Amino acid sequence: MSRADLEKQPQAVAAMFDDVAAKYDLTNDVLSLGQTRMWRRAVAHALDVRPGERVLDLGAGTGTSSLPFAEAGAEVVPCDFSLGMLREGKKRHPELPLTAGDATRLPFADGVFDAATISFALRNVHDTGAALREMLRVVRPGGRLVICEFSHPTYRPLRTVYTEYLMRALPPVAKSVSSNPDAYVYLAESIRAWPDQKGLAGRLKDAGWAQVAWRNLTGGIVALHRGRKPEA
Ligand SMILES: C[S@@+](CC[C@H](N)C(=O)[O-])C[C@H]1O[C@@H](n2cnc3c(N)ncnc32)[C@H](O)[C@@H]1O
Repeated sequence: MSRADLEKQPQAVAAMFDDVAAKYDLTNDVLSLGQTRMWRRAVAHALDVRPGERVLDLGAGTGTSSLPFAEAGAEVVPCDFSLGMLREGKKRHPELPLTAGDATRLPFADGVFDAATISFALRNVHDTGAALREMLRVVRPGGRLVICEFSHPTYRPLRTVYTEYLMRALPPVAKSVSSNPDAYVYLAESIRAWPDQKGLAGRLKDAGWAQVAWRNLTGGIVALHRGRKPEA
């Protein structure tokens, strides 16, 4: 069983997700105590897709994060570079056009999407700036971006409890549900090393996104960042 480290080498990250694919969605629900579903609803609300819009869901894994957009009538394209996650997704959601692609070199032409979104995946991409620039390239001028990612709780007591929960409870709990519990050691490490809300907003601006803002969910355990591609 493989696990990535904070260097986030693409082959190590893809192999790690290949290993967890079969039980990925179940483990997510257990470890987040069911919060994942609420976070996904908030992403759908923030992206506010219209029927017929073309939406890129990057780092879509098994496609579960793409479902709310398909249900809203959008033409959602789930894209991921872990073939294991994509295979699992194809079994569960054969109707979704799951597409293999690396976030830092997307296999799409310029400006073909109305919106892009990425849930719990940007943190795993070895070059964050390249992924943010690629999403900017493939959405049309005026197109939207919503990022859903673990972040930093803003209330100090919650931050302390959360850090304890993460560092101590997550790997042992993962042992009872996941096919690759070591991957959840990486999860805890990568969340701790990830920029806070303001830091990530700065990266969006550096990549060329405009109207950048964020909203905390569950006290900042998760944050939704928004941006818009400047009109030409
Ligand atoms: C934690 S999963 C999230 C899956 C899904 N978005 C969800 O919310 O359940 C992270 C996904 O990001 C993908 N990923 C990481 N780096 C990537 C990259 N450079 N290009 C494409 N996908 C990547 C992984 O393969 C994995 O499936």
